[in-house]
Order: sequence, then structure tokens, then C-alpha cells
Amino acid sequence: MPEATFHFPRGFLWGTATAAHQVEGNNTNNQWWKWEQDGHTMAKSGLACDWWGGRWREDFDRAAEAGQNAHRFSVEWSRIQPAPDKWDEDALEKYRAMLRGLHERGLTPMVTLHHFTDPLWLSEKGGWESEDIVSLFEKFVRKTVDALKEYCTLWCTINEPNVYALSGYLTGDFPPGVSDLKRSIQVEANMVRAHVAAYHAIHQVQMESRVGYALHYRPMVAKNKWSPLDALMRNIRYEGLNMAFPSAISTGVLKSPVMKVNLPEARNTQDYFGLNYYSTDTIWFNIRKANELFTDSGFEKDADFSDGNYIANVPEGFYNSIKWAVRMYPNTPVIVTENGIECADDHIRPRYLAQHIHQMWRAVNFNWPVKGYFHWSLVDNFEWERGWSQRFGLWALDPETQKRTKRPSADLYAAICKENGLSSEMVQKYCPEVFEKIFPS
Ligand code: FCB
Repeated sequence: MPEATFHFPRGFLWGTATAAHQVEGNNTNNQWWKWEQDGHTMAKSGLACDWWGGRWREDFDRAAEAGQNAHRFSVEWSRIQPAPDKWDEDALEKYRAMLRGLHERGLTPMVTLHHFTDPLWLSEKGGWESEDIVSLFEKFVRKTVDALKEYCTLWCTINEPNVYALSGYLTGDFPPGVSDLKRSIQVEANMVRAHVAAYHAIHQVQMESRVGYALHYRPMVAKNKWSPLDALMRNIRYEGLNMAFPSAISTGVLKSPVMKVNLPEARNTQDYFGLNYYSTDTIWFNIRKANELFTDSGFEKDADFSDGNYIANVPEGFYNSIKWAVRMYPNTPVIVTENGIECADDHIRPRYLAQHIHQMWRAVNFNWPVKGYFHWSLVDNFEWERGWSQRFGLWALDPETQKRTKRPSADLYAAICKENGLSSEMVQKYCPEVFEKIFPS
């Protein structure tokens, strides 16, 4: 049996990613909380992982003991600016304490400034549909970065603007539950504008900052290879989801399947590219999906599925995504800002993790500038419209009792972080079923 270790470059960031609304609990002043109370989600966020109550401490301890050297979390706009003319210094102080907590434990922080949630007062003003958002977001970013700059230099302006715009304004799964392609493009264009304003503001406040955004990137293949219609639908969906925001950043033109928006100011407004990769889709034509431009998506029939078939384990898609990123943005470092799978009993996560780390190692061996990896997520947390039905944590959480239980994957990931690499021994121990795939004899 072959024995080897696939090592990563020195200084590689190994961490997990979380988001304010999903872990803090009692985020009562944002549009998601309201959306939950109005009955649009499978369950309510409630106390979530009770980070706002202080349980971030024990979870950061877990991350540190598990050999992680970085953590990505987000700040909650509605806590920092509860009303248009009001800043909450105590909330900022709490985030400062969390950042100090990371440093004390040897974890490099990465802070996301917007991760799906908006203050209620902002939604009432029309949220991201109005161009007013650009100066409002910039003001919030300036204030927040100024308050936190002592402890953080790595910033993510907006998490998954494509998912926010499409889920909120096209499929209607996210608030405000609208289904209107034009409005979704308007929102995404405003997200580009707000990102640009934030990019410059952060650099003004902190010269040494590194600023980027995180994209949800999905490789896609046509379901029926022989079908020109499926091929066309694949291209439409691919452009719509994957290309609109990134093309604005590289060329200054937001390209969507139905229109273009010129945003020349967006060119080169990133210091790294944040990649969120979960799975690879198959796409086909569906006459009933008029609101999604007649495209529909799923996975290969015989795929290695997660609980509830939400994610298919397609590790090569991760490699292809990194390859896409380095071609899309030459000479730009890539940080994997999210990657993970939901699985309550942890039967699939160890192999998903090992196979994805292996694909990332392949990319690193071409000298592609991948600088870090943040697994989604540290502890089970509130999964948006899917509520608590999905378990993405390295640690399981019982939201009723707040009890955490370590899953085997946490130990595998700890071994990877501590070794700064993936060894044949680890694969043999945690997921022998894919040994031949990763270390062929
Ligand atoms: C991503 C989101 C993140 C989490 C994972 C599972 O799209 O950024 O908040 O819900 O999916």
C-alpha cells in the first residue's frame, strides 16, 4: 500500500467558516429573523449556537485545539447599526473581544462584512434594490473596519452576492421572496457597486488590508450530452449564477443572460478571490421553470449524495473551480472561503473532506496561489430556509441543550491542519473506502 503525505505550502491558512446569523442567536433586528417569524423557513434560528451569549469562547477553543490556525466569521450589520442614526459601540466591543479571542488562541481572523442579513430598517427602505445601498454599506463598512482594524487585516466584503440576489429575487427562497429577473440583476449590480465602495473604504482605513468577496461557484454540465437544448440551458444558468459578479470585477461589465450593466469602476477591486465550492450540477431544460429561464438543476444519478441529496460529492469539481478561478483572475491569490457537506452521522464527510483536500493539493502543485481553506462549518448551525435540517458541523450541536459532540471528521481535519497536509495514514484511518482513489497503488 503506498505511503505518502501531500503537503501544503508553509503559512497555509486552515480554518472553518461561520456567519453571524447562523451562529449568534437572537438576531432579532434583521430581515431573516422576520422571515423566520413569518413562517418561511423550516425552523427558526432562535439561540442558534449562542455565540452572542458567549459560547464563541468554547467553540474557538475547539477550533484551536483541533489545530486550526484561522477562522472566518461575519459581523451582524443590524447589531452594529440598529437604526440608521445609531451605532452600538457595545456590539463592536463584543466583536473586538471575539477577534482578541481568536488571536489569543493563535487563529488568524477573516471577517465578512455582509453574509445574507440586512438590518430591518434597511429592508424597509428597499434594501439592495435602491442605489442608496452603496453609500449606506460604505458607511457601515468604514465604521466597522475602523473599530476592528487593530485585530484583522483580511476582509470579505460580501458573501455570495450571486446567491443573495438569485435566492432573494429570482427563486424567492430567501427574503424578500421576490421572483423577478430584472430586480435580481439590479440587486447584483448594486452589490458590485457596494463592494467597490467598500473595497476602497477599507483600504483608506487600513493600508495593509487585503480585501475580496466570496463567490458561490458551481461547475455545471448539461444533463443530456446529446441535447442542444440542455447545453443551451447549461450555458444560460452558468452565466447567470457564476459569471455576472466575477465578470464585473475582471472586465467592468456585469454580464447576465438577459442584459449587461457597465460598471467600469469594478475592475481590479480585489486582493484575493474567495471561492465557495460545494458541488457540481447537471442542468436541463424544464418548461415549468419559466422564472429560472427554463433551466433546472440536479446531480448525476449515481452520485455520492449527502443527507437529503442536497450536495453530491464531486471532488474534481473543486479542482476545476480553482482552475477556473486562476484563469478568471490571473495573479490573484485564491482563498477557499467555504467547502463542506451536510451529514448528521458523518458517514460521508470524512471522504468528502479528504477528497477535496486532495484536489486542492493537486491545484497547489501547479503553483496556483491557493492560500487557505475554510471548512463549512465548525459547529452545526442555522441553515437559512432549511432551518436545522442540515448538519454541516465538524461538531454536532443539539440546539435545544447547546450540547456539542465531536464528529470523527473533526479529528481528521485536526490531523490535516496539524500536519499541514493529507497523509495516506489519515485516509486509511478515516475513509479507507476512497484510499485507492487518492493513493492509487
Ligand atoms: C453557503 C452559505 C453558507 C451556508 C452554506 C451551507 O451558500 O454561504 O451561509 O449556508 O452555503
